[in-house]
Amino acid sequence: MHPRPSMILCVGAGLGLALLGGCADPLALLPMPLWEAPFVDAVAVDVDPAPDRVDVELEAREAEVEIAEGRTVRLWTYDGKLPGPRLEARVGDRVRVRFRNRLPEATTIHWHGLRLENAMDGAAMVQAPVQPGGEFVYDFTVRDVGTFWFHPHVRSDEQVERGLYGAIVVRGPNEPEVASDQVVVLDDLLVDPGTFQLQPFGGSREAMLGRQGNVLLANGRAQPVVELRAGGLHRFRFVNAANARYFRLALEGRRRFWLLGVDGGPLEAPREVDELLVVPGARFDVVVRVDDEEGATLDWQALPYERGHGTGGRPVARVMRLRAVGSSLGAPAAPNVAASDVPVLPASTVQRELRFQEGMMAGASHGGHDMHGSGGSMMGPRFSINGASFPEGAPLRATLGDVEAWTLVNETEMDHPFHLHGFRFQVLDVDGVGPDFRAWHDTVNLPARKTVRIAVPLEEFPGRWMFHCHLLEHAERGMAGELEVRAP
Ligand code: C2O
Ligand code: CU
Repeated sequence: MHPRPSMILCVGAGLGLALLGGCADPLALLPMPLWEAPFVDAVAVDVDPAPDRVDVELEAREAEVEIAEGRTVRLWTYDGKLPGPRLEARVGDRVRVRFRNRLPEATTIHWHGLRLENAMDGAAMVQAPVQPGGEFVYDFTVRDVGTFWFHPHVRSDEQVERGLYGAIVVRGPNEPEVASDQVVVLDDLLVDPGTFQLQPFGGSREAMLGRQGNVLLANGRAQPVVELRAGGLHRFRFVNAANARYFRLALEGRRRFWLLGVDGGPLEAPREVDELLVVPGARFDVVVRVDDEEGATLDWQALPYERGHGTGGRPVARVMRLRAVGSSLGAPAAPNVAASDVPVLPASTVQRELRFQEGMMAGASHGGHDMHGSGGSMMGPRFSINGASFPEGAPLRATLGDVEAWTLVNETEMDHPFHLHGFRFQVLDVDGVGPDFRAWHDTVNLPARKTVRIAVPLEEFPGRWMFHCHLLEHAERGMAGELEVRAP
């Protein structure tokens, strides 16, 4: 399997080098038809009759998944579904997930964005991975209203790409009245155009840019058509489960819509917006008013976004199509949403600086492939924070109850989606410019060559917590670290 010389040039083209004639764009999407079938909306079955308890079973296993009409892909799934069955809970519920691993390799489940006991976090530093045939019971209480998600934290670049992800919706007492409320998990798959199976993993372009697919998926479907009651307010909770793709989402014609919440819960009040940058790991909760006229369509589109190394400059792509059906509900133009409180944080007592770096590594070294240093001979890019490529470097030590201010300096030529486990944070500013609104995040984009400051209250759970780039190829190649939080 020696690449032809022209392929070497094509590989380079993806890294922003001169595009020489005859090379196909490695980031181009395959043309896909619209698909009319309704979503398979799988919700995990709660077997505990108590109102404040959710008790579900979840099994990781291989399955054939139909992602376009008549096109199936062999994937790794939760319960045979893509996305995995959604967990539904109310704030304060105790959730038990009896997990069984039927995959050919070890795995864990990380509950992205949930604040919970360290032992339930699923990072391999706090949990021995569940071996093939093994089981583990995750048991935690959900503290925050919002949209969260779950995925493996072992070899996550391959395991998440193969299809292991699902959403968790935590509802509160004051949910707005809407005609429909749906979670849309965004992803992309890199498939072979002929066989439609996943392309092999690896290569230095994939390591550098992250694996970006050639088919966009919304809830496991390419180009789905969703029928929604005409003239109604419809709620969409977007989750980006892609390894590397940034979804810059907009409605066709730049129709405006309402932003209700981000990662860690509701905003204080909804805001009218006309686009969202949904980076890997992030969530956005929005409301759209669908046209009054039956049959009218409106597309959710992915607009071009340059996240470095020539990833921008591509055509607008359709993510999904909305179609108005039935007589108009005649809903008001804007949703009626109860105010939420996002507190102003007290001044921080601890300051830290984290510098995000990329470089090349030559020959054998550690730093790859399970965020925990099983090692291996690595060529190609090497990612680090403050000079240490995880698991190199000492953990950051912190004290429970402190409010810390972190300065995240992106020294590289590309954006990185930063994620912290176990805690939530507020963005203070990006290159000195404050955000438009106060909100709780667990994931934030670090634009190329910019500095983002965040405030992190270490509210509740001591333990060993990871932070990392959520571009999973980067996380698995060292752009990660550990925060060790102890009781005072
Ligand atoms: Cu969504 Cu450490 O991950
Ligand atoms: Cu990164």
